[in-house]
Amino acid sequence: TIIVDAAKTGAPVSKELHGIFFEEISHGGEGGLYAELIQNRGFEESRIPEGCTLDSGFIIPPRTPHFGSEKVSDWKMPFEAKSDYPAWTLTTGGGATGKISLDLSDPLYKENPRSLKVEVTRLGKTGKVAVVNEGFWGINVQQGETYALTFYTRTQNYTGNITARLVGGDGKTLGEKVFENVNSKDWKKLTATLRADATDAKATFQLSFSKPGKVWLDFVSLFPTKTFKGRQNGLRADLAQYLADLKPAFVRWPGGCFVEGISTQSAPNWKRSLGPVEQRSGTYSPWGYWSSDGLGYHEFLQFCEDIGAKAMYVFNCGVACEMRSGVYVEDKDVTPIITDILHAIEYAIGPKESEWGALRAKNGHPEPFPLHYVEVGNEQVGEKYAKRFNVFYDAIKARYPQLQVVAAMGIAHLSKPTIATISKMDMADEHAYKAAGWAMAYADWYDKYERKDWKLYVGEYACNSGVGTGNMTAALNDATFILGMERNSDLITMSSYAPLLENVHDTDWPVNLIRFDEAKSFARISYYTIKMLNENKATVNLATNVNVPVDASKPFFEGGIGLSTWDTQAEYKDIEIVKDGNVLYKSESLKGQDWNFEGGEWSAQNNMLTQTKDGPWPLAVLKEKSFDRYVLKLKARKTGGYNAF
Ligand code: AHR
Repeated sequence: TIIVDAAKTGAPVSKELHGIFFEEISHGGEGGLYAELIQNRGFEESRIPEGCTLDSGFIIPPRTPHFGSEKVSDWKMPFEAKSDYPAWTLTTGGGATGKISLDLSDPLYKENPRSLKVEVTRLGKTGKVAVVNEGFWGINVQQGETYALTFYTRTQNYTGNITARLVGGDGKTLGEKVFENVNSKDWKKLTATLRADATDAKATFQLSFSKPGKVWLDFVSLFPTKTFKGRQNGLRADLAQYLADLKPAFVRWPGGCFVEGISTQSAPNWKRSLGPVEQRSGTYSPWGYWSSDGLGYHEFLQFCEDIGAKAMYVFNCGVACEMRSGVYVEDKDVTPIITDILHAIEYAIGPKESEWGALRAKNGHPEPFPLHYVEVGNEQVGEKYAKRFNVFYDAIKARYPQLQVVAAMGIAHLSKPTIATISKMDMADEHAYKAAGWAMAYADWYDKYERKDWKLYVGEYACNSGVGTGNMTAALNDATFILGMERNSDLITMSSYAPLLENVHDTDWPVNLIRFDEAKSFARISYYTIKMLNENKATVNLATNVNVPVDASKPFFEGGIGLSTWDTQAEYKDIEIVKDGNVLYKSESLKGQDWNFEGGEWSAQNNMLTQTKDGPWPLAVLKEKSFDRYVLKLKARKTGGYNAF
């Protein structure tokens, strides 16, 4: 029985409660939302990110080693490129010979100095020499659809043609264009529209050469003509439509760890992501791959406007990702960073007569964009960060009092001295990744959360442990968690599930909201939970009394502990699992390996926990003394009624 007392109103529900958070992770943008079909179009992807050297020792978990799919020994250096020209290969046949190499001489643009040098040394009558791009794990070509091709060439002793082809997995040509008179010692731009006469999700793109000689290639780009809202340099229609259909109140962008960078120099820079796409030098994502920045600052703001969402821009405040290098730019060097973010804001909302507003107008958008929020860094804690936050807060508010300025880590993660150091903030961004069962065991987490002069933005949340790649259990946990936020919307005014998008060919995070490959896309159940709540926006909580008949001899919640850590370099000390006052498990130290236990029985060998027997999950309490990120406890409820606002 559920009794609703309409006369007893609780907290109003924030209209901005449900937004989205886009990050360049798991190829969510490059090879995902950004519709470009050519991987490594500028031949820049073997470049070492700025501020890093080969012996700097930065280590990156490239492909979810912490989620069990890979071992720590599989970790790579961030700039350990697979080849000098990732995603490109040379193919020869019929006795022809040739070679390809990277070339730094006479670049098309100094921002992107590399080009691909193709040397056709012998061709013969039936010979074939071509360079092949594999796309992002295949190029999804659709029968009857058209594709906009752009590439640049310069040549030496080359009198032949260049043929651009879409080639099916079976080797058949699906569409082609022959470019004649390509000979030019200076860079020449070539464009064409290719029409596909068959469908193939695993097509490749090829450029072949009809005579011996030398040809340089740069910025080879192929876009479907049909993009979201038909925009040039646009977004993949199916993925953008999912996001639009969610009716998010806002979009947080572009990270996450992506914002932090593996070094402060290689962290995203909004100015580098503006203007002609050929000149954008790209950003190295800490998730182990390059973004071309084609989906740049302007495109992000445009997308927010296109889907009727407010924009939240997260910027690097002079701190590199703690897990990679953790470097803080010195206080004396912070002024240019403040100037830079003030410029970014002016670009978004300044009058078109202002310096950066004028550039926005020149780029085709005289009216201001819907930027309402800025966030100072991502997941940074401690007094050092708090002091830095204050400087940014004051500078931004002095110029733009209408903007909401968000602190990068929520209250539950901050120590009292840190909280005391922050003089003022509009919101604290608290992240909440939880194991299966947590949302049920802690259904009252936000009911009991300390209220003071702060508001929370739960900028990243998900049930992402013990649920595979996301299943019904995950969705029920998420729904429970989300309703806890709605019920406490006096405290939590904004939230966004994370991560949003996952290209299943290159997963960096275990559970994501929307999964896709080169052709198909699929939104998980949690997506529909959020969609439903956005389509049926609650205004105010009403007092409800839920009476569930219970068998008091059985626990209300039977579950267990799901504990995992992605901080594989951390050491955890004095860990105990206690049941009914008895210590079930004790370890002085766990380190250097992902660990994850979910009920059943465990044994500890070499300071690592291993599950030796499957559930049923025991009721247990995990006590901790020195976790720096997670505290997990499990409680059993035996109550029949559940009163809640
Ligand atoms: O959402 C994935 C990652 O989780 C984000 O990059 C980071 O902010 C958080 O730790």
